[in-house]
Amino acid sequence: MLIISQLIGIRIRRALEEFVSECTTLSESSIALLDPQLVPATKPEFGDFQVNCALTLAKPLRKPPREIALAIVEKIKHDEQFLELCEVPLIAGPGFINITVKPKCLISELEHRLRDKRLGVPPIDSDRSDKQLSRVVVDFSSPNIAKEMHVGHLRSTIIGDCLARVLEFRGHTVLRLNHVGDWGTQFGMLITHLKQVAPLALKKPDAVDLGDLVDFYREAKQRFDTDITFQALSREEVVKLQSGDEISLKAWSLLCEQSRREFQNIYQRLDIRLTERGESFYNPYLQSVVDGLERSGLLVVDDGAKCVFLEGLVGKDGKALPVIVQKRDGGFNYATTDLAAIRYRFTAIPQGDGACRVIYVTDVGQSNHFFGVFQVAKRAGWIPSDGSLEHVPFGLVQGEDGKKLKTRSGDTVRLRDLLDEAIGRAEKDLRRRLREEGRQEDSAFISNVSSTVGLASVKYADLSQNRITNYQFSFDRMLSLQGNTAPYLLYALVRISGIYRKGGDTDLALSKVEFSEPQEWVLLRELLKFDDVIVLVEKELLPNRLCNYLFELSQVFNRFYDQVPVLKAEEPHRVSRLALCRLTADTLKLGMTLLGIPTLERM
Ligand code: ARG
Repeated sequence: MLIISQLIGIRIRRALEEFVSECTTLSESSIALLDPQLVPATKPEFGDFQVNCALTLAKPLRKPPREIALAIVEKIKHDEQFLELCEVPLIAGPGFINITVKPKCLISELEHRLRDKRLGVPPIDSDRSDKQLSRVVVDFSSPNIAKEMHVGHLRSTIIGDCLARVLEFRGHTVLRLNHVGDWGTQFGMLITHLKQVAPLALKKPDAVDLGDLVDFYREAKQRFDTDITFQALSREEVVKLQSGDEISLKAWSLLCEQSRREFQNIYQRLDIRLTERGESFYNPYLQSVVDGLERSGLLVVDDGAKCVFLEGLVGKDGKALPVIVQKRDGGFNYATTDLAAIRYRFTAIPQGDGACRVIYVTDVGQSNHFFGVFQVAKRAGWIPSDGSLEHVPFGLVQGEDGKKLKTRSGDTVRLRDLLDEAIGRAEKDLRRRLREEGRQEDSAFISNVSSTVGLASVKYADLSQNRITNYQFSFDRMLSLQGNTAPYLLYALVRISGIYRKGGDTDLALSKVEFSEPQEWVLLRELLKFDDVIVLVEKELLPNRLCNYLFELSQVFNRFYDQVPVLKAEEPHRVSRLALCRLTADTLKLGMTLLGIPTLERM
């Protein structure tokens, strides 16, 4: 009820300002700062909203809070615009003002949503005139070339995609950036190894299948650690690569291409769109990061390395921690690249991305890194006044034993295998259910449902957790038809759509909605929260808020459906309840889409 609450807020504010200016000599500017403190009601019996400001104003105004509340209500009682929306407010307890939205207003909101594809979620352009202001970078997934894309990257991929979807839906222009680790000294050994074991690959691309690059990386690393000639060659190779040697660059791009294919496979299966812009992209900008820091007087040379000492972050020895931007050997590092990326992202188009908000989705282990580079960028003056940099951290993925997720043989879990297993288990569950229900379905149905349910389960399990906490990966839990899971929600949606379909093709948009039961109002009020939830996710970047809402909504729906007849009801109740069914189905469907989870017609 975003729009309704905004309107209510405006009216209450007016009443509050009027009252305050009558009883004090506060300056106009401080009156303008008054906040009615309008929040959703804490209990349904209090109505829809409550206004809490009477309590906080008691002291500065030197009046009992109840008296303040009364005076505000006295004013609002005569405000026609307010009375269009709400009943006359009631005062409760020491001075809370309880506000109940009028039934006719809730019903007209329902009727509006039945016609509105956005289900009441306002697009940002309606409250922001400058489109340029709404460019947002979401830096997510970001695996490393020739290394494993692990469950941490999977979490980043799933959470980042969901956040990007919500931001896009709100109308922001979102740059979904894959900041892949495609540069660094490790390429010295990788290229040296490649030149020796697969020289043909450099002449004819695709002549050699490099296979699993993770093994390739391991071999190269092992040689690097044990063979000094190989080490020397690798170091030379780094220099060659950095100076733009053609063959080295070719080998480098071959390795990147090979990894990219692996990553792409995962993205395709999960329906993730990403623009790759790896670390190498920022190479031309690295030196100017160091120069810029030097000019702004932040740079300190410490033991040969160029660094900036942080404020507010100390090491074990109690001394300030540095962000190193140029190593003793002259090389740049992860932090230098991120600083260059920050500058680039905030720089106006066409020299940069022109972003106003930059969001990084990585595991919580990188919090210090981001704390450091954000602070340095800020002190260097590289963040515009309206720009915001946000690290969106998430916890570790653990096995059911609470330790790092591993396969039974103790190896790290490959993402491909993990997705396959989820789908395989979903298929087993489905076949069992079909047998129990005595249903016959063709193989296309089985494969579609299994893969949708399997992938949805992996995604939802990730998204429904508060991302900050560590999360225990459990196939059994995520695939269960009970509880806050993807299969539960997918199934709820199938069922609700079914009820609605059975209702026949009544044109709900044209029918007159009329409610008679409290359960109808409870469900309607729950449905009308959708827009608030979306805007909250946009602000707080917590996808679990949306998951919890969808779960709660389907439970409220179940109670409604258990207690109130729908298809067998008399008109106008039948059509009114069908309208609730349809809006519930639409809300679940849109909610799932914003989570990045496709829905099913049947399952
Ligand atoms: N490649 C990094 C890793 O695998 C994540 C990069 C995150 N993004 C960034 N701009 N630093 O840990």
